[in-house]
Amino acid sequence: MSFSKDFLWGGATAANQCEGGWNEGGKGLSTNDVIPHGKDRFPIIKGDMIVSAPDADHYYPAHLGIDFYHHYKEDIAMMAEMGFKCFRMSINWTRIFPNGDEEKPNEEGIAFYDSVFDECLKYGIEPLVSIVHFDAPMHLVDTIGSWKSRKMIDYFVRYATVLFERFGHKVKYWLTINEINMLIALPFMAAGIRFEEGEDRKKVTYQAAHHELVASALATKIGHELAPNAMIGCMLAAGNYYPYSCRPEDVWESICRDRDNYFFIDVQSRGEYPAFALKQMEREGIMPVMEPGDLAILKENTVDFVTFSYYASRCVSTDPEIAGKQTAGNIFASTKNPYLKRSEWGWQIDPLGLRVTLNTLYDRYQKPVFIVENGLGAKDTIEEDGSINDDYRIDYLRAHIQAMDDAVNLDGVPLMGYLPWGCIDLVSAGTGEMSKRYGMIYVDREDDGSGTFERRKKKSFDWYKHVIETDGAEL
Ligand code: BG6
Repeated sequence: MSFSKDFLWGGATAANQCEGGWNEGGKGLSTNDVIPHGKDRFPIIKGDMIVSAPDADHYYPAHLGIDFYHHYKEDIAMMAEMGFKCFRMSINWTRIFPNGDEEKPNEEGIAFYDSVFDECLKYGIEPLVSIVHFDAPMHLVDTIGSWKSRKMIDYFVRYATVLFERFGHKVKYWLTINEINMLIALPFMAAGIRFEEGEDRKKVTYQAAHHELVASALATKIGHELAPNAMIGCMLAAGNYYPYSCRPEDVWESICRDRDNYFFIDVQSRGEYPAFALKQMEREGIMPVMEPGDLAILKENTVDFVTFSYYASRCVSTDPEIAGKQTAGNIFASTKNPYLKRSEWGWQIDPLGLRVTLNTLYDRYQKPVFIVENGLGAKDTIEEDGSINDDYRIDYLRAHIQAMDDAVNLDGVPLMGYLPWGCIDLVSAGTGEMSKRYGMIYVDREDDGSGTFERRKKKSFDWYKHVIETDGAEL
């Protein structure tokens, strides 16, 4: 079996983890510019430790990233050589609006992305653009508290409007907000939220979520008006929760955990808050303040497709002894599933879980779905002859492509494309490491910031090239 000719094979990145050039081209200070590598990273990305500016005591991997800012031509040429039909990237908000509240955009920032898109289109690569991927202007964090404030909606809408006006003729595929459900786990990294002492965290988080949802719906509306051929999607950090056992309590708990995540894209895709979320917010006294007209905005501006990241399934048990045996996952830790192997970072490896996720999302939303992140973070070794034999990565990708083949050809899921994460090595969002590599293209940069930025093909480069050439028939 294989995939249709118009299937969008490619890869995914995000500005916050690869672009660099943090103080070039008129760019302003962004949340990711103040997130260091090291022990303070986690308290900062969770919003517990308050920072406003980088300092001399920390190393900030996003400042230079992998220097995509200066290497994009070379990088896109390598992606073209692999046969990419689609390239996911994000725009750095502060390259377009350095402080976030200006009236007019920074033309130097516009020119940079114009050139990146031209480079993609030159090779017939469709850009897929995340308007926000773990990014917010620090000026707005400091002055209005980022998404805590309703004012953020206006700034986001102004930013999105400029993107559709200026790039709508070049970019067909858009995502409003990357992994919107990460707001729960990583309030600062995902949404620029820092908590003051005594603040009701849950209330603040769900109010911010409402602002993001209204902003996303308004951006979808404007995108549809300004770029009528564009498709605009939502984005979920996915991976179903499995009940550890068939004990009814475990099954129910797995449903509840999944709902915590679906909550957001239920709104973006179906246009209304699901009943369970309304009941829960009412019960817990965290119902967001809504303005008249908000519900109509959500209802009338749903997304065209549903995108998601998938690295692993998750597992949950209500038995404290079993639940105590946790393993790491994409930020959300999971009960260890005894049937699965794990990556070097503890993330469970479950290709069939991708088929489960694809089917669940299509059953739930009945809209085209798109895998915009998947992959294995692993340490790579350069052999004496300069080669990098990343068979472990090939094995992971092969098994996941097989699972998506089943979802498409056996289950009939309308899958638009497959964009493995970090097709070129980049900084890990969770840990800030470079040594957690996902790419088919190696980048000479280390956890401490040393390295030349030289690019090098891994074994997976030629393997993936062949997969694309054969439309997935030969894995
Ligand atoms: C997703 C994010 O959560 O997972 C990416 O959208 C991130 O930004 C990816 O890089 C992998 O996570 P990590 O922590 O290994 O970089």
